[in-house]
Amino acid sequence: MDAEVAANRVAWERASRKHVDEYDELLAEARRLESLRAWELELLGPTLAEAPVVVHLQSGHGLDDVDLLAKGARKVVGVDYSSTAAAAAQRRACELEVGVQYVVAEVPTLPLRDGCADLVYTGKGALIWMRDIQAWATEVARLLKPGGRLYVYEAHPTVPLWSWDEDKPRIRDDRSYFARSHINDSFPANGAQEWQWSLGDIVTACVRAGLAIEALEEYAEPFWRPADGHRAAAWEGRLPNSFSLLARREG
Ligand SMILES: C[S@@+](CC[C@H](N)C(=O)[O-])C[C@H]1O[C@@H](n2cnc3c(N)ncnc32)[C@H](O)[C@@H]1O
Repeated sequence: MDAEVAANRVAWERASRKHVDEYDELLAEARRLESLRAWELELLGPTLAEAPVVVHLQSGHGLDDVDLLAKGARKVVGVDYSSTAAAAAQRRACELEVGVQYVVAEVPTLPLRDGCADLVYTGKGALIWMRDIQAWATEVARLLKPGGRLYVYEAHPTVPLWSWDEDKPRIRDDRSYFARSHINDSFPANGAQEWQWSLGDIVTACVRAGLAIEALEEYAEPFWRPADGHRAAAWEGRLPNSFSLLARREG
């Protein structure tokens, strides 16, 4: 693991204490089964109807895993390099008696066998932590069975540009769509190194890994809003704030 990835992992280990401190609230949230958004379910519907084995990369608090099982998945394997996050998610899954197994490992070098997944699910703040987007896409393709699908629901790559001003949307002076990286300046991994991947980078990496793109949708709604109720004008409908990508492993 290189020094920047190692430093990010330390930051995430610290930030993931939140999943322990807020264990009961997250357990109650998991029970509500409202983690997956309507547009996720729309694109995932046909795959979930086939009772897939799912590998969830960067599974975090694991709420999506409980919902994926409730919506049709046969089994979910969550992967995260934070042992704190994985342990809290595992405890919740055991308490809820659902079939999720958590593995502590670094994406994109995973101790999972080739073709183990019908569906690789990821996003909601995942891709910005990948130092090498091509290595990520190649690992996704390795994990998928032929015909298996990748689904990503993620912050739109333009999001680092938007200011959080409430009066009107502005582009931050210190950001560029074409920058390769920047330092995170908001919760939870404040101070960590993020990598920026344009929509073109992400799509091209998938295609080069042998994944055929089936859908690429852009949404005005961010995948996450701060708990304090802050409402940036950039999130109110005029700008892209999240996207979904559905791709199928060829062969
Ligand atoms: C913003 S959180 C999102 C997690 C999840 N999608 C959710 O909604 O809870 C990012 C997660 O990615 C994990 N992570 C970041 N880089 C990683 C890597 N290279 N390998 C494995 N996990 C990683 C962090 O530990 C953290 O749990």
